[in-house]
Amino acid sequence: MRVSSSSIAILSQLLLPVLAADTAAWKSRNIYFALTDRVAKTDDSGSSACGNLGNYCGGTFKGLESKLDYISGMGFDAIWITPVVANSEGGYHGYWAQDLYSVNSNYGTADDLKSLVNAAHEKASDDSGIYVMVDVVANHMGMAKIADNKPEPLNQESSYHPACDINYSDQSSVEKCRIAGLPDLNTESPDIQKVFNDWISWLVKEYSFDGVRIDTVKHVNKEFWPGFSSAAGVYTIGEVFDGGVDYLAGYANLMSGLLNYAIYYPMNNFYQQKGSSQAIVDMHDRISSAFPDPSALGTFLDNHDNARWLNSKNDASLLKNALAYVILSRGIPIVYYGTEQGYAGGADPPTARISGEADSTPTPTFTRPSHDYLALGSPPVDLLPMTKPTCTWLTPHTPGVGPGVILLFSRRMVDLGRLVITVSTPKFPMASGTTLLAPDRTLRMEAERSVLVSPMASQSCYSLLEDIEVALID
Ligand SMILES: *[C@@H]1O[C@H](CO)[C@@H](O)[C@H](O)[C@H]1NC(C)=O
Repeated sequence: MRVSSSSIAILSQLLLPVLAADTAAWKSRNIYFALTDRVAKTDDSGSSACGNLGNYCGGTFKGLESKLDYISGMGFDAIWITPVVANSEGGYHGYWAQDLYSVNSNYGTADDLKSLVNAAHEKASDDSGIYVMVDVVANHMGMAKIADNKPEPLNQESSYHPACDINYSDQSSVEKCRIAGLPDLNTESPDIQKVFNDWISWLVKEYSFDGVRIDTVKHVNKEFWPGFSSAAGVYTIGEVFDGGVDYLAGYANLMSGLLNYAIYYPMNNFYQQKGSSQAIVDMHDRISSAFPDPSALGTFLDNHDNARWLNSKNDASLLKNALAYVILSRGIPIVYYGTEQGYAGGADPPTARISGEADSTPTPTFTRPSHDYLALGSPPVDLLPMTKPTCTWLTPHTPGVGPGVILLFSRRMVDLGRLVITVSTPKFPMASGTTLLAPDRTLRMEAERSVLVSPMASQSCYSLLEDIEVALID
């Protein structure tokens, strides 16, 4: 029997293991950031509030698994989960590691975690299921006695820097001193580097994670990261908590991507009506020249380290506009759990590390279908414009007045794909072809068009959208 070389090639491709998710694969994903302890209990009664937000509230891997349809129903095809390793007492958020090779039993078992990842991968979104990104920390360990940390040699004092308080004006101090008094790992040591490289490589493979979110990146010497990131073997996105574009860009080549704290500040200032749209565009342009791959960055408007958006500005209409920016502009969109339900949270409780949780915040219920949560306000429009037409004006609605009608993003799923519209006004003309829309995202959306129109005061947002759809859809 004659076997052609092309069929051999096809056969060998089929035998290859599933490829790890790289940067290109992640660029087309939408990430839902799930704080494992806070999304859902295993037995989700749907009504229980958490008594103390500064400690475990009962969320589990199984609970999260039961909400995968809810999450994918909004159009998300990736989740970022908080750290999974065993923590010291009270580490409900996961960032106080005690034993790198054990799972935090408050969330369930190692098998529960594998079940979550498998279930996510099997979800029939358009192709390869829901990706799972795991959060990790290599800067510090938790509050336990150092002698109780695992694996060896993390139980030895010599694995850590001498105790000192951080002077944020001094980068060496930022890297070597302690955040919140947590023992700071001596990441300059080749032995410590090996412990963490071996661990991250094992962790990603053991649980079949598709990506890694890396905590407190600027608190570790830069030399540590390329080896760690490549040992992960998948897309890595780092948290460098600094809005300075040049400072941030100093980390761009050390891992696959970074949380985009450079755009976070001008974006929120604008959508919270404290800053200009031009500042967003200026920062967008500075990022374009400072970063080798701006679309590998993750765009977000709040998270567990920053106050919830509605807590900073209690205006759901403005939030929707900001979300439209997050979802449609260049970069990988990241939405913090509960945003879709209009969680406003509260100021950071002094005893809790996680921001954005108010004492009055109940644990999420998530018992209704996700589409119930997409509509906030009146007329009902999608909070997350993933699957339905969305038309979001900034207030006031009058073109050319105030900061209102300067940017509008919308996209609509139609039979052939999605329609994306950007709108500019005479006050803020965006030159054709230089919109803030993401080139990589437009690639994913089939039959997508991007057009530039001038809004007219007499037209409602919806009638404008309909006109454009009629004009563009074949
Ligand atoms: C912090 O670091 C800066 C820069 O090295 C230095 O000038 C300053 O004196 C330091 N502050 C303290 C309190 O040590």
